[in-house]
Amino acid sequence: MDTSKTITLTIDGQEVTVPEGTTLLEAARQLGSDVPVICYHEATTSNGLCRICVVDVNGGRVLQPACVAACQAGAAVSTRNGRVERSRRTILEMLNSAVDLSAAPEIGALMTDYQADPQRFPEAAARDHELMDDNPFYVRDYSQCVLCWRCVQVCGSDAQYTFALTLDGRGYDTHVSTAFSIPMTESPCVFCGQCIGVCPTGALKPKIEWGLEKGLSHDEIRQMTRQKRRRKHMDE
Ligand code: SF4
Ligand code: FES
Repeated sequence: MDTSKTITLTIDGQEVTVPEGTTLLEAARQLGSDVPVICYHEATTSNGLCRICVVDVNGGRVLQPACVAACQAGAAVSTRNGRVERSRRTILEMLNSAVDLSAAPEIGALMTDYQADPQRFPEAAARDHELMDDNPFYVRDYSQCVLCWRCVQVCGSDAQYTFALTLDGRGYDTHVSTAFSIPMTESPCVFCGQCIGVCPTGALKPKIEWGLEKGLSHDEIRQMTRQKRRRKHMDE
């Protein structure tokens, strides 16, 4: 970003001057405008995947994703109007039709805010995945995954440089996985927990938290993990 040059634009009726290259999201936040995000996270590279952050720029034909679109001089931006609301509502309804959002309170709050209809797409096929419990530290439930990519990014070149996670499959079958779907304990994963920290849903959960939610005691959870480890050694 060239901070020596600045540009001036209007967001929700307020004039703002920002360094060239500033994204619409950054400028809007500077003014206190609330633009919702799902795939965006301060710790990861913006990838413009989910489109929940779309805003109206000059009434243009296409709404622009605020997390990746740069501010343009003289632009008049609306972060929330009828078009923007309709678009966000539809995105939320589509997400809800395919993903279990029961452990994603922030997305749930957006559903309420944008009056999204949870029954809008009753025929849609939910992304069903079995709970993956293949290591002593955390469980993965990709039925709750919105494919925001944040876990893959922090595991890779945005933070940890471990590259244990990747995307597998195509189209509707796209899902997060280890390379060749090997168990996490056989992958390069160092169990740093950064993926859990950036996950916006309940798809990734520390094992203790998951067990306690199931009503298990700390001892039962430890016992379960030990038995699992013992069984694995016997299999080897
Ligand atoms: S597991 Fe979580 S962080 Fe990773 S892609 Fe899915 S929702 Fe995003
Ligand atoms: S938050 Fe901008 S595209 Fe997802």
